[in-house]
Parts: sequence; structure tokens; C-alpha cells
Amino acid sequence: MDEHHMRLRDCHNFHDFRRLARSRIPGPIFDYIDGAADDEVTYRRNTASFERCDLVPNVLRGVESVDMSVTVMGQRLAMPFYCSPTALQRLFHHQGERAVAAAAAKYGTMFGVSSLGTVSLEELRKEFDTPQVYQFYFHKDRGLNRAMMQRAKDAGINVLMLTVDSITGGNRERDLRTGFSIPFRLTLRGMLQFAIRPTWGLNYVTHESFKLPQLDEHVDMSGGAMSIGRYFSEMLDPSMDWDDVAEMVRHWNGEFCLKGIMSVPDAKHAAEIGCKGIILSNHGGRQLDGSRAPFDQLSEIVNAVGDQIDVLMDGGVQRGTHVLKALSLGAKAVGVGRFYLFPLAAAGQAGVERALGLMRAEIERGMKLMGCTAVDQLSASNLRFR
Ligand SMILES: Cc1cc2nc3c(=O)[nH]c(=O)nc-3n(C[C@H](O)[C@H](O)[C@H](O)COP(=O)(O)O)c2cc1C
Repeated sequence: MDEHHMRLRDCHNFHDFRRLARSRIPGPIFDYIDGAADDEVTYRRNTASFERCDLVPNVLRGVESVDMSVTVMGQRLAMPFYCSPTALQRLFHHQGERAVAAAAAKYGTMFGVSSLGTVSLEELRKEFDTPQVYQFYFHKDRGLNRAMMQRAKDAGINVLMLTVDSITGGNRERDLRTGFSIPFRLTLRGMLQFAIRPTWGLNYVTHESFKLPQLDEHVDMSGGAMSIGRYFSEMLDPSMDWDDVAEMVRHWNGEFCLKGIMSVPDAKHAAEIGCKGIILSNHGGRQLDGSRAPFDQLSEIVNAVGDQIDVLMDGGVQRGTHVLKALSLGAKAVGVGRFYLFPLAAAGQAGVERALGLMRAEIERGMKLMGCTAVDQLSASNLRFR
């Protein structure tokens, strides 16, 4: 179907939502979501890695009702996948984080709020009754780190998630070409792309002005004084090490996890300093291109630390069967990023709800066809590698 005549009800999978989003939002924003680092090899690999193995179903096991709930880092999720934290959601659709949180709450799963989120973590915590993660970056100013952690504690945040794969920015060449940055510094070509999406533009200017409420209180992002690029290079601390994180874990004194762990030594370190979980992730291929796919690395990590901490993963998940494969190898839950971002960009809350509902239905159908009624019945014995 011609993407300009597509509607939300025509979207049945990730690719449909992606096409609908592309037809509705300005090109530079689409490329910011869709793009990844360097040659985008890791981005492609993340999804391709799930095709390295096949599911081996069992039959005739009485599967009329399926319980797909899981407990991760002390949080009970009605489904084994959650919305991973992502930046700038009100730029993609004017409902932004509110739409994602509402959809996550409707389906009883967890959502993340980014440090670069565009709705305040307090508002979301008050409004929606479902587990909420706060994604944190480590600043040079230790006082600022403590103040931000206190703010998250006071708000009632359930899990603190420190992202550790962004010690420096990835090379996102699509953004260099369009001039995508905050504040906008668009190239002429980038500007033209905005001009041909007037509905997005109208919504952008008629809704509450763009803000980064997790940072605004602490960092001057206004009037071009501080761009996100400068925030990364000037405020974040590239000297961060395991001692710093150990101190943060002690200070937080609650559920704490590291996002962006890939090696066995790092996974062991995370367990030693008291993290409750790790998320195997390469930031959706947006940081180190050529790095391994989380699904490829999952068994190694689960074998090393799976009995000590919750091992989660994200990257490239587009299907219920991808989730089933990750759970079979011992992941406790799976994060999705673009899987809900394209639906958000395409249709706001209705889009995210449709996407989460489709994923839920695929997991339920997949579990029934696998002969499983609970997540703990999935194991490596249900998988064969090619
Ligand atoms: C547009 C976009 C913005 C993101 N922003 C953040 C962020 O602010 N903090 C963070 O830890 N991860 C961020 N991520 C990474 C996601 O949390 C997640 O690791 C990744 O999207 C998973 O890959 P997938 O998109 O293939 O599902 C972002 C990803 C995308 C696509």
C-alpha cells in the first residue's frame, strides 16, 4: 500500500509502523529514530541475530490459558517486554512520554523515562500506576548526580538505570547530514523536510513548548546555550569507573541496574557491586558500530551471572518470537525501543497501544504454539542453532 494512504489499522508489524511514521514526521526526525552509528552494521545485526536459531515446539500440552508475567528487579510485569527509555519523545509526537506511559500502564508493563525525556518523571510517576525506570547519565558534578538521584527517590521511581555505553557520542551520520540537533540547527535540506510535514509542525507549535524537565532544573538548555551534544561532551564524566558506580549503587540503596553491559567481566563486576540487573544492549546500534548483538552474547552472560542478577536485553526486537527466543536463553525480560517509537511517531498513544497489543498477542500465540503456559517453561532445550 502507498504509505501516504496508510492508516493505523493497516499496521500489523514493525515495518508497517515504520512506514507510517516515515509518512507523518519530518525526515530529520525519522532519521534520528531510525538511524544508528557508522555503517549501521550493528543495528542490522541486532535483528538478524534472532534468525541464527530456530524454535522447537512441543505439542498437546493443554495451553488454553497462558501466563506471560515475569518479575524483574522486584517489579512484576504482566508481559515479558517493556518500553526502554528513549530521549525526546514529544518531538516524535506531541503526546510523547505520556502516550508511552499510558500504553505501558494499560498493558501492565514497565516504561523508562530518559534523562533527556520531555515530560517530567514526577508527572509520569503520579499519573500512571505501573513500574517506572529512570534512565540516568553520570555527570562530572557529583553534587548534581546526588541531587538528581534524590529527586528520583522523592518521586517514587522504582528502578534506577544507569546507561554505561554512552561514555562518548556515537557517530550518527544521518544526523550529520540533516543537521539534527537540539536546539535545531537544520541544513537547508533538513528544513525542507520539515516544510513538507505541516501536520507535525502544527502540533509541535500548538502544544506545550519543548522542554527537558529532567535536566532543566540543573542545566541551562535554553536559547541554544547548551545543546545535547555539548551536554554530552561538557557535563557527562568520561572518567566514570566501577568505584563511582559502586558508590552510586550504595547511595541509591534500591533497585539499580546497568544498561549497556556486554562482556562477562563487566557482568560479574555489576553483580559484585550490588546491581540487581544488567541490560545487554548496544543502544540499538547507535553507539559502537561493529559491536556484538545482545542476543548473540546472551548465553555467555546468563551462564556467568544468571544465578546472581537479572539479565535483560534489548536491541532489534520486532516480533513475539524474538522475545520467546531471548527468554529461552535466560533473559528475564526484553526491552524495545524503535518497536514503540515508530508507532508513537505515527499515531501517538493509539499507535503505542496497538503495537504493544500486537506484541502481546504474538507472544501469547507463540507460547501456545510452543506448548508453554508460563515463561519459565521456555528453555534452551526449545532452541536449536543453525
Ligand atoms: C531515538 C532513540 C533514542 C534513545 N534514547 C536513549 C536514551 O536517552 N537513553 C538510553 O539509555 N537509551 C536510549 N536509546 C536506546 C534504547 O533505550 C534501546 O537501548 C534501543 O532502542 C534498543 O534497540 P531497538 O530500538 O532496536 O529496540 C534510544 C534509542 C532510540 C532509537
